[in-house]
Amino acid sequence: MKIIIVKDYEKVSDKAFEIMKEVVSGNPEAVLGLATGTTPLGLYARMIADHEENGTSYARVKAANLDEYAGVGKDNPNSYAYFMRKNLFDKIDIKLENTHIENGMALNADAECKRYAELLANMPRDIQVLGIGSNGHIAFNEPGTPFDSVTHTVELAESTVRDNARLFDRIEDVPRKAFTMGLSEIMQAKKILILATGANKADAVYGMIRGEVTEQLPASILRKHPDCVLICDEAAGSRLKN
Ligand code: PGA
Repeated sequence: MKIIIVKDYEKVSDKAFEIMKEVVSGNPEAVLGLATGTTPLGLYARMIADHEENGTSYARVKAANLDEYAGVGKDNPNSYAYFMRKNLFDKIDIKLENTHIENGMALNADAECKRYAELLANMPRDIQVLGIGSNGHIAFNEPGTPFDSVTHTVELAESTVRDNARLFDRIEDVPRKAFTMGLSEIMQAKKILILATGANKADAVYGMIRGEVTEQLPASILRKHPDCVLICDEAAGSRLKN
């Protein structure tokens, strides 16, 4: 894994954007694997600004997102579908029909997982953007998720519910179940960009890079990927220095 440590969140976003721009400029039909969470917001802001200022077009780009809360519809402001429209898709020229995410309201969860897994198999990602959970999860693949997993439903770890509570009025409002892309599907992307900022990610980042490759720390699977770049700020990378 290539490791890039920069000063702060803004610099992480700059570097991530540089890599994203290379992919999109090199292939106007690129397939992007995208993530929600607060970490990629700076990257998305730069993609929007670049689209507005330089006309970089996403008209033929396709996107697939990692995960979605179960029981939360796409027009609910807490849904990841809504997050993506608000923070990226509505502000660039990507066609909404070319953007994909699990349907949190699916009545038959197994059928929905199968549908999404088949879709992913037919749209290999050129680049996958990832954040990392403080417990080492990627997407909603919590510790213990098999490395060979495909799209599935999960019970969120308590630490994830606590981490995500900041985005809800009350912790009781955080959904407990979600759909997530599996680890084997994440690994299929040609290139992976994992972003980590803030001191609360320092242990997870350290474990991912220096610990064992183990299902107990899902992000450690990325060490087996041939083209994975970690971009972190000094706080998240603080334990890598010595
Ligand atoms: P965050 O989430 O970007 O909001 O910190 C990352 C994650 O949980 O994967």
